[in-house]
Amino acid sequence: MGGKVPNQAPRFAKLITLLSAGLVIAFGIAFFAVLGNVPNPQQLMTPVIVTASPQFAESIEARVAAADPSKGAAIFEKYACNACHRAEDGVGPALAGMGKRAETRRPNYSAAAYIYESIIEPNAFIVPDYANIMVSNYKAKIPEVELFDLIAWLLGQ
Ligand code: HEC
Repeated sequence: MGGKVPNQAPRFAKLITLLSAGLVIAFGIAFFAVLGNVPNPQQLMTPVIVTASPQFAESIEARVAAADPSKGAAIFEKYACNACHRAEDGVGPALAGMGKRAETRRPNYSAAAYIYESIIEPNAFIVPDYANIMVSNYKAKIPEVELFDLIAWLLGQ
């Protein structure tokens, strides 16, 4: 009887040692797995690329295609867009070339979708090197008929 206890104690201790070693290894693997998944700062700074055209694009394009660009110049003045958008770059990007640039500003945005968004939600994308100062209540201010005539005209600038 007396001999059994000292015989089993070392075995038990061995088992504990093995178990602890196993746990340490398991935790180690889990730790590095988690660490490996933490995005590095470089990854966090990479801009999200929009891979599909915005949902509103199709209906906007149809409405712009049906609009009357000949009324656009007057609407541009009526809402004082020309206070910031002159022929040349100034407070805002130049009016000249706006339609062409609009095709290139955001991935997967058509020119019409980009100009539409630029007017009704100017905060959605800020043109690099410009201040975020464009008036942001045009959605409420400009009736839709005028808005689409304006966009149709801007596409040709
Ligand atoms: C107070 C000055 C100001 C007024 C008024 C203003 N804008 Fe702007 N607009 C800006 C600035 C600054 C930017 C560039 C920064 C940004 O993206 O918001 C800009 C950007 C734009 C762009 C994107 C141009 C590009 O090159 O990508 C469009 C389109 C535009 N405005 C249309 C209009 C229209 C149409 C009106 C009138 C209904 C208007 N803006 C009124 C200042 C103004």
